[in-house]
Amino acid sequence: MIEKLLPDGVVAVETFEDVAGEQSFPGEDFLIANAVESRRREFITARRCAREALARLGHAPVPIRAGPKREPLWPAGVVGSITHTTGFRAAAVASQSVLASIGIDTEQNALLPDGVEETITISHEPEMLTALSRSSPGIHWGRLLFSAKEAVYKAWYPLTGRRLGFEDARLTIDPMGTFVATLLVDGTRTDGESPLTALRGRFIVAHGLIATAVTVPPNPGAA
Ligand SMILES: CC(C)(COP(=O)(O)OP(=O)(O)OC[C@H]1O[C@@H](n2cnc3c(N)ncnc32)[C@H](O)[C@@H]1OP(=O)(O)O)[C@@H](O)C(=O)NCCC(=O)NCCS
Repeated sequence: MIEKLLPDGVVAVETFEDVAGEQSFPGEDFLIANAVESRRREFITARRCAREALARLGHAPVPIRAGPKREPLWPAGVVGSITHTTGFRAAAVASQSVLASIGIDTEQNALLPDGVEETITISHEPEMLTALSRSSPGIHWGRLLFSAKEAVYKAWYPLTGRRLGFEDARLTIDPMGTFVATLLVDGTRTDGESPLTALRGRFIVAHGLIATAVTVPPNPGAA
């Protein structure tokens, strides 16, 4: 499902099931030392997906630790992203010569809890969601916008090292399966490349889930 959203050269591994009794990978257990069982399961399975994806890029199995804002720390020269929701876990990785950053996110295709849509939408977004819901009522568009913004954040953070609020990006969703996030804050990058002004993504709705992916093209000369 996730692979359909990504360009050639990106490896995605996903699963709809955990392996009963699977233990955490050596060097990662401290990250979930005090976690409840459901958190352990999502973490262990998604990290396994990530290592499988890395193996397909030719990387030996290593612990994938987390940075100060919980971002996964990938081997040198690799970009990647992890997502999990009830009944689904996935990871996507690519060489930096293929992408400068990637963010993937999944959500249940279900209504957002009461009041959430109001807190995550700005500008023309409420009207856009109303129009989308009228034309395609089988998709929970508020939830899709939420997922798309989370994917935007996961791609944004490794490039900027800064937080991004839901009010800091304005989404335009094309019901054919793409979206553009216009950034309303300074997009200066820590790698000295041109500041981010907009991020582009794709989405799919399948298996009762919404999946979104944002990719940032490689830096000039990265190949
Ligand atoms: C980080 C965040 C997006 C993750 O949301 P979530 O509902 O837990 O989503 P998922 O379960 O799909 O993904 C969790 C994974 O995201 C990754 N992640 C967490 N923080 C991250 C960051 N700062 N940068 C990149 N990836 C990050 C991690 O791999 C995490 O899984 P892990 O802890 O098992 O490694 C969310 O917690 C958050 O902070 N949102 C507020 C910021 C935001 O979304 N702004 C919108 C801007 S338009």
